[in-house]
Formats: sequence, C-alpha cells, structure tokens
Amino acid sequence: MKRQLWALAAVCMMATAACMPVTAPETGQSVTPATDHATPANEQTAAIACSGELTSRNQEGPYYMTGSPQRDSLIDPGMPGLPILIFGRVVNQDCAPIAGAKVDFWQTDAEGRYDNSGYTLRGHTIAVEDGAYTIETIEPAPYPGRPAHIHVKVFAPDGRELLTTQLYLPGTEGSADVRAAPDLLIAYTGQDENGRQLAPFDFIVRR
Ligand SMILES: [Fe+2]
Repeated sequence: MKRQLWALAAVCMMATAACMPVTAPETGQSVTPATDHATPANEQTAAIACSGELTSRNQEGPYYMTGSPQRDSLIDPGMPGLPILIFGRVVNQDCAPIAGAKVDFWQTDAEGRYDNSGYTLRGHTIAVEDGAYTIETIEPAPYPGRPAHIHVKVFAPDGRELLTTQLYLPGTEGSADVRAAPDLLIAYTGQDENGRQLAPFDFIVRR
C-alpha cells in the first residue's frame, strides 16, 4: 500500500489529471503501441521511495520460454485489449538500484491464451541507470483456475536469476493467489494521454 501511495503522489506531481478517478475503457478494444515509452514512467520513478521489503516469489508455471525479445512494448498493432503501462524500479533490499537488470514478462492475451509457439505477449526490458524499467502491454484475461496475472522473471546483469513471480491485475483481490501474496496485486493509479492504465510496481530483490 505504501508503495502505491507514493507512486500515486509521484504521478500527481507529473499530471494533475492522473489523480482523477480512473474509468477503464472497454476491454476488447483494438490498441496501437504508444511511441513515447520513455515517459512518463521513468520520470515518475525518480521520486519513488523504497520499502526494502522483498517482492514475494510466485510459481513460474509451465509456459515460460527463454529467448524473449527485448522491447518496450508487448503490444502488436491491432492487438485487442486494455493497454497498460507497468513501470517502476528494480532495487535490492537496501534500495540500491540494479542497473542493467533484465525484467522478462510473459502473459496471456485478452482471451486468456498463451502463445507457446512464438513470442506474442512475451518480451523483456532492461532497467536503466537508476533501476527504472517500463513495459507496455495489455491486460491479460484469466484462464480456468487462475486469476488474471502477468508472469515476471528478474535477472541480474550477469544473468543470475533474482526473482520469479507474478503480478495480479485489478479485480483479482478475492483470489487465493492474491490473498497469499497481496504485494503482487497491481493497482491502476491513472490513465496517460495514450489511454494506458498506469500500473506502478517496484521489484525488490536480494542482492
Ligand atoms: Fe500463467
């Protein structure tokens, strides 16, 4: 909760409009990747504090694939879904940024399907000097037995795996998965000029 509050404060400093209540657009819309992936997230994260509490681990599941492409957006042109921008920092428990950390994402599409033959909705980004990372994607749909979630792995610059976890989407609060690891629930703090729901999340990992 603390993280979400200061993240919201950072958003508010950047744009008053972002502090207004969020009305999510209809899901199923066709979206186009935004072109300004560097903002506003990277600027916002500069003001974010750090709790020092390690991000919960979560199961990898059966659908991870190595070799995902590096990119700032997982959205392909015309892809249906609610666009979201996940951003934050990768830091260790002393709150020191891990520049060069690799943050690898994989998820289902807006109908709850994984691409297990290619890299649709799979990709990784690299944290910059202050540990900031940004990834644009769509809100995944749940599939039988699972609340809506996005899988994540975080790797050190030397390739060591630091964390395997999952992020849970708004609306999954009542699920057993979120009750077991409430820090993995993301919250939308606003909507940017590209119609993307803003979802701040810091990864706090062991050194
Ligand atoms: Fe999954």
